[in-house]
Amino acid sequence: MSEPKKLFIKTYGCQMNVYDSERMAEALGGQGYVETKSADDADMILLNTCHIREKAAEKVYSELGRFKGLKAEKPELKIGVAGCVAQAEGEEIMRRQPLVDLVVGPQSYHRLPEMEAKTRAGEKALDTDFPEEDKFEKLKNRPKAKRGPTAFLTVQEGCDKFCAFCVVPYTRGAEVSRPADRIIREAQDLVERGVREITLLGQNVNAYHGAGPNGDMTLAGLIWELNKVDGLERIRFTTSHPNDMDDALIEAHGTCEKLMPYLHLPVQSGSDKILKRMNRSHTAESYLRLIERIREARPDILMSGDFIVGFPEETDEDFQATLDLVEEVKYGYAYSFKYSTRPGTPAAERPQVDAEVADERLQRLQALITRHQRVIQDSMVGKTVVVLFEKSGRQPGQMVGKSEYLHAVHVSDADVARGDLRKVRIKSSGANSLGGDVI
Ligand code: SAH
Ligand code: SF4
Ligand code: F3S
Repeated sequence: MSEPKKLFIKTYGCQMNVYDSERMAEALGGQGYVETKSADDADMILLNTCHIREKAAEKVYSELGRFKGLKAEKPELKIGVAGCVAQAEGEEIMRRQPLVDLVVGPQSYHRLPEMEAKTRAGEKALDTDFPEEDKFEKLKNRPKAKRGPTAFLTVQEGCDKFCAFCVVPYTRGAEVSRPADRIIREAQDLVERGVREITLLGQNVNAYHGAGPNGDMTLAGLIWELNKVDGLERIRFTTSHPNDMDDALIEAHGTCEKLMPYLHLPVQSGSDKILKRMNRSHTAESYLRLIERIREARPDILMSGDFIVGFPEETDEDFQATLDLVEEVKYGYAYSFKYSTRPGTPAAERPQVDAEVADERLQRLQALITRHQRVIQDSMVGKTVVVLFEKSGRQPGQMVGKSEYLHAVHVSDADVARGDLRKVRIKSSGANSLGGDVI
């Protein structure tokens, strides 16, 4: 048998890219590739890219530049660009960086095996179609190898919301949901391979409307089906849009035992004027009322969110409204970004906020978020949480896992193994994690 070829994949961007990278590695596995952790000994390098902000896209080109030496040493090395930059820039990537052999968009990667063969024949391969066929149907069933206790599972892709700042509707296309039976089967497969927690993924995961046995199923319906999967202990989902949080999903947070008390629900801004200009089609008030209802259903739920500061025409008052909203919600986690102009999106044409002003706002918002995050994390001390252990920690004898609320928790010298779910009494709260004892 010939030596397996080595594949190095580097993943940028969101969890959906993490999932896609796994599937691309599996697709190329059929071509005799095994994954390697270093670009240096690879026969093929794939960058799975993100286009969400300017910096993310630029990183791709600087990374590609660094492979020049490798390619000079090893001319048979193939270099590919996948993901959202591939979708957005297509052929332009090969023009700007001629060492690239292959460009594949996020909807076409089931065609990677043929594309790889084409590059081996000395040709360039480009595919950024939004094909009719379902790529998940075309991909082989996942191999049976054992894996870690947590996994992502993409259930929905694409976005029809067209927020004025965002490239995702252009790079990922229109909303598409996978049929429920395929998802359930994939979940059962993952569980057989050792997975105990599944995070359902979608750009707008709660807009899920996949075919079920009795017509279309909503995300709540899918979660209830997954709740029945033996051996699956935890269900999470991300990212959801406020306008797609229906009553059944809110209720599931109160009643579905496997659904974890954590919800990432981006709002982007606390100013109605800015929300309108962002084309978010919800107000700050409607978002706050929604959280109230979610907290009625599940009082201990930990909220998480995304914010953009310095969106075109954001004034000090608008920014203050964002701070006020954060103060009211008190997020356990929140991610904030400085607005980044994305070519082709409506907001790119509008009067931009001064970069220094945006920097200063970002710092203030992040300081407030960090303060709340810390108070919430510290408030876990003295409580008992359930931890799914994932790996050994940095200290000898230490094991690390995640609580229901997604806090990292470490324990020392306890008799726990990877994949165990154990009750832990929290006794300390550090910079990035909680410490406790297994009880
Ligand atoms: N589908 C998800 C995630 C979108 S991308 C959602 O609707 O929330 C993740 C986050 O990146 C967004 O929530 C937003 O906060 C941020 N983001 C998107 N476009 C951006 C831009 N042009 N500049 C800065 N941040 C952006
Ligand atoms: Fe982008 Fe808005 Fe769609 Fe989220 S909902 S992916 S922010 S357009
Ligand atoms: Fe980035 Fe594409 Fe995800 S732009 S955030 S990798 S959907």
